[in-house]
Amino acid sequence: MSAQPVDLSHAVLGPEGGAPVVLLHGFPLSRDLWHETAAALARSGHRVVLPDLRGHGSTPPGQGPATMEAQAADVGRLADRLGLARFVLGGHSMGGYVALEFVHERPKRVAGLVLVHTRAEPDAAQARSKRHAAAEQVGRRGVEPLAQRMSERMLSPATRRDRPEIRERIRNLILATSPRGVADALEGMAARPDQRPRLGAISCPTLVVAGADDELVPFASARALAQGVPDARLETLPDVGHLAMWEAPAPFARLLTEWLATVSGHGPAHASR
Ligand code: MLT
Repeated sequence: MSAQPVDLSHAVLGPEGGAPVVLLHGFPLSRDLWHETAAALARSGHRVVLPDLRGHGSTPPGQGPATMEAQAADVGRLADRLGLARFVLGGHSMGGYVALEFVHERPKRVAGLVLVHTRAEPDAAQARSKRHAAAEQVGRRGVEPLAQRMSERMLSPATRRDRPEIRERIRNLILATSPRGVADALEGMAARPDQRPRLGAISCPTLVVAGADDELVPFASARALAQGVPDARLETLPDVGHLAMWEAPAPFARLLTEWLATVSGHGPAHASR
């Protein structure tokens, strides 16, 4: 049975008719994550679409776990509504899990894939139990303990030392997410499929971005992801944890802009179907 659809609240930047790029934020954040990156891509002529995934930002939750399949369907409906037949799809962490599901189900719609701080393997049993426990804790105690924990772990030691204000910025973003949105996403991630056997079928240009100091998605996972996708390019950013777009905004935006220029057939938006 397919999950109940959710209409994604979103922002659009950049010139109408610019080559379309859809960027999916990670857990438990919102489209604000992409602010600097999207502004840079818009300046280079791209049409950038930033959805808030279900239960995050200003998009309401759905019913039950926010599975990757349900979230990919939400993204597909948004793209249909915006008339985007084919576009570059980028995903950060959980957004990357959604992007991998999307390209598996709708390969013809993806002109290129950008996978940032994410992985293909599913949760091991222990990680799954921790997700269930965290979902239960959020129901009892709210989002604050998670915001405290994650805002620390998302940053590299260098960012924590040199740019402590970023931690507060993430904390505020997490605190703006509802307990229900957080719990549904945790349950959805716990149930996510193993994408590893599907990676070999990805035929679009793919860029994998890793943080050398990412505590949440170890470098080995990002490297295995890049090795699984034919001809994928792997870029590792030094002194970056789990948030390249904030920890190294200029190098990250430059990397994306330069890579996008190499994606052939990534032309202006076309009406869908
Ligand atoms: C994220 O940033 O989206 C999460 O850390 C992903 C995860 O918990 O697996």
